[in-house]
Amino acid sequence: MRVVHGYMMFKHFYYFTICLLTVILPYQLLRAELKGLDLKTGSFTLKQLKAASDNFNSANKIGEGGFGSVYKGELADGTIIAVKQLSPKSRQGNREFVNEIGMISCLQHPNLVRLYGCCIEGDQLLLVYEYMENNSLSRALFGAGSETSFLTLDWPTRYKICVGIARGLAFLHEGSAIRIVHRDIKGTNVLLDKDLNAKISDFGLAKLNEEENTHISTRVAGTIGYMAPEYALWGYLTDKADVYSFGVVALEIVSGKSNSSYRPENENVCLLDWVNHRQSVSVAILN
Ligand SMILES: Nc1ncnc2c1ncn2[C@@H]1O[C@H](COP(=O)(O)OP(=O)(O)OP(=O)(O)O)[C@@H](O)[C@H]1O
Ligand SMILES: [Mg+2]
Repeated sequence: MRVVHGYMMFKHFYYFTICLLTVILPYQLLRAELKGLDLKTGSFTLKQLKAASDNFNSANKIGEGGFGSVYKGELADGTIIAVKQLSPKSRQGNREFVNEIGMISCLQHPNLVRLYGCCIEGDQLLLVYEYMENNSLSRALFGAGSETSFLTLDWPTRYKICVGIARGLAFLHEGSAIRIVHRDIKGTNVLLDKDLNAKISDFGLAKLNEEENTHISTRVAGTIGYMAPEYALWGYLTDKADVYSFGVVALEIVSGKSNSSYRPENENVCLLDWVNHRQSVSVAILN
């Protein structure tokens, strides 16, 4: 009997410890971290965001990323928003959530997606952004799955999108009070407004660019296929890493081919390789 009682005590203690380590502590730390930041964003209640998105109705879902789902919503004052709901399972997401708020809350530029604010309630972490009517550049170029949701982009529009991304990056690298390397420039992180102006989103991986401290030895992060070789292989990070990723996105814009869903054919292992083999006949890469 005593053995059973001891076992039950142990089991409760075990569950309590797991709960403390995985649920309670991370959220307390997150709250403390957010308090420490001089935030220039608003804060929303869960009730407000549930009302805005019709209780996160699947009909309002506009995208899905590595950290959770994104919903369209309408606030009581009529503002249309995009709400990113971080999956409670995503522990890495907590760090990126704090980073995203810290970074983007102090940056405003016509080519950066605006963060209106966030919500932390219970185990819910939500980010509230300006709504981008034409979704992501990837969706515009390649569609989403079986849907024929891609847009026909003419050359002046493709040019405008390239210039928009470049302006956003120039602001991050040189134009703001703090220097930032985004680290995750790719088609799904470039969003398009109703007039097809490009805006850079997702600052979860962004890092301050400190000239004397360019070597990252612990956690190289980004998306395969878009990371500059010197960064992916050696952790050497400067703003040039973003310029490399922008180059890959520019190739996608020009060729109309997706780098991430590229299937190796013949001797080419990626889009870059494919373009490289065609450099003498530049017209052959145009979409
Ligand atoms: N502000 C927004 N307005 C309109 N659509 C958005 C907005 N933010 C995100 N989306 C849509 O939601 C999708 C998911 O975004 P999310 O940033 O979570 O992931 P991702 O960039 O696709 O992938 P990853 O997790 O690898 O970064 C985007 O690709 C886009 O289609
Ligand atoms: Mg994204």
